[in-house]
Amino acid sequence: MTDLTTMYLGLTLHSPLVASPGPVTGDPAMWRRLEAAGAGAIVLPSLFEEQVEHEAFAVEYAISTGADSNGEALSYLPSFDGVRVGPDHHLDLVEDAKADVSIPVIASLNGVSPGGWVRYGKQLAEAGADAIELNLYDTVTDPMTSAAEVERRYMELIEEVKAEISVPLAVKIGPWFTALAHTAKSFELAGADGLVLFNRLYQPDIDLDTLEVRPTLRLSSSDESRLSLHWIGVLREFVRGSLAASSGVHTGADALKLLLAGADVVMVTSALLRHGPEHLLEIRREMVTWMDERDYDGVRQLRGSVSRANVPDPTVYDRANYFQVLHSWVPSPR
Ligand SMILES: Cc1cc2nc3c(=O)[nH]c(=O)nc-3n(C[C@H](O)[C@H](O)[C@H](O)COP(=O)(O)O)c2cc1C
Repeated sequence: MTDLTTMYLGLTLHSPLVASPGPVTGDPAMWRRLEAAGAGAIVLPSLFEEQVEHEAFAVEYAISTGADSNGEALSYLPSFDGVRVGPDHHLDLVEDAKADVSIPVIASLNGVSPGGWVRYGKQLAEAGADAIELNLYDTVTDPMTSAAEVERRYMELIEEVKAEISVPLAVKIGPWFTALAHTAKSFELAGADGLVLFNRLYQPDIDLDTLEVRPTLRLSSSDESRLSLHWIGVLREFVRGSLAASSGVHTGADALKLLLAGADVVMVTSALLRHGPEHLLEIRREMVTWMDERDYDGVRQLRGSVSRANVPDPTVYDRANYFQVLHSWVPSPR
């Protein structure tokens, strides 16, 4: 029988298919369905830095103004529509998920500034989380802030969170670093036990009728997995810790390619939102069929076998690939 077992952050998972943070993993009714459909682990929705700071601000404001005498206090604060504010909800989620399923449960912290809020990493771990995922999602718009400064801040944050927790730490990043291989190594040296590649950026759109700038949320497509595939293929050679692929995993083929490039696990959100937790069964079925047809014993055998270090011509992962791709275009007759 095909063995899908994989190691991620030092945890043994029976499958490399991991449910990544989003509304599905945030819904307790989905946890057992995810487990029954073969999820190897669940990553809960993030506790955002803003949620912690927001609560701290609310408490301070209430104390300084007299909580009951000023009904303005809450309306004065930024709103987080549909999101319960504060860390308690997340601590409850971890405890409840741990009681509900036997697969590992990973809690997520989402923020970019070193500071007191990172102590919630410890609390999430104490609530039972098997690992912490730190999501460094940021849009640096200040022209006075350099890339070096931002990366130094991220490293400080990784060090701070790592110092707080006794469970493994994954760091989820975006792809837009000038020297990603160096950055990835630096994050590993700062304490990351694994990297999650990549965050999807949610670009705003302009409404042509109202001229309002609106945040837009579109679910991903399989094409988006190629950015992760590229960088996992490159980083597999240099990163000693775990690599998780996130973005654009919808099919067994998407998952297989990312594992071949070097991922230890692949993470799924959009496909779960579109089709429900049972879609994992379909992804798994496609993977197992492909592996059986080619006599693979298990995931460990194929992992990284098509990474940059293991292909006959590593330049397919480098700039030379760009040149070849551009010159491979064949115009269609008009
Ligand atoms: C509605 C929604 C909510 C999400 N919430 C979180 C979150 O709380 N924390 C986080 O790290 N990522 C969050 N994500 C990002 C996903 O975990 C994932 O990285 C991203 O959607 C790319 O994977 P996909 O292509 O499978 O959707 C969210 C995504 C969606 C669509």
